[in-house]
Amino acid sequence: MIGRLNHVAIVVPDLAVAASLYRETLGAQVSAPVALPHHGVTTVFVELENTKIELLHPLGAESPVARFLERNPAGGVHHVCYEVSDIIAARERLKAQGARVLGPDEPKEGAHGRPVLFLHPKDFCGTLIELEQA
Ligand code: CO
Repeated sequence: MIGRLNHVAIVVPDLAVAASLYRETLGAQVSAPVALPHHGVTTVFVELENTKIELLHPLGAESPVARFLERNPAGGVHHVCYEVSDIIAARERLKAQGARVLGPDEPKEGAHGRPVLFLHPKDFCGTLIELEQA
C-alpha cells in the first residue's frame, strides 16, 4: 500500500545552523526557510535525488513540534512520510487493522498542498508516520 518515501522530517533547534550543515557540510541543495503558520512550523526543504529532508522549527505558541524540541533539545528525527495513492482507502484499511489516526479523521492539507494523515507512533514501532496522497 505505501509507495515512495516522500520525506523524513527532523526538528532542529536552529534552522540557520541546520540549513548550513546540510548546505555546506553535507553539500545538499537547500531551500530558503518557508513559514507554514497553520502547521506551526518553519521549514527548510533539503532536496535529495530520491527523497527530501524537511528541517522543522516551531512557529508560534501552538506549534506541534515545540514539545518535541523541549524533550529533545539537540533536535531529532520527528516523522517519516510515505506516499499513498488513495488516502481515504489507506485510512480505512489501517483503521480496520486497529491502527490509530492522530487527531481528526479527515485528512488535512500538508506542507505540499496534498492531503495528509498522521498515524499513532505506538502502533508503528515508535515512529510517527505521515501518509501523503501522491
Ligand atoms: Co511531514
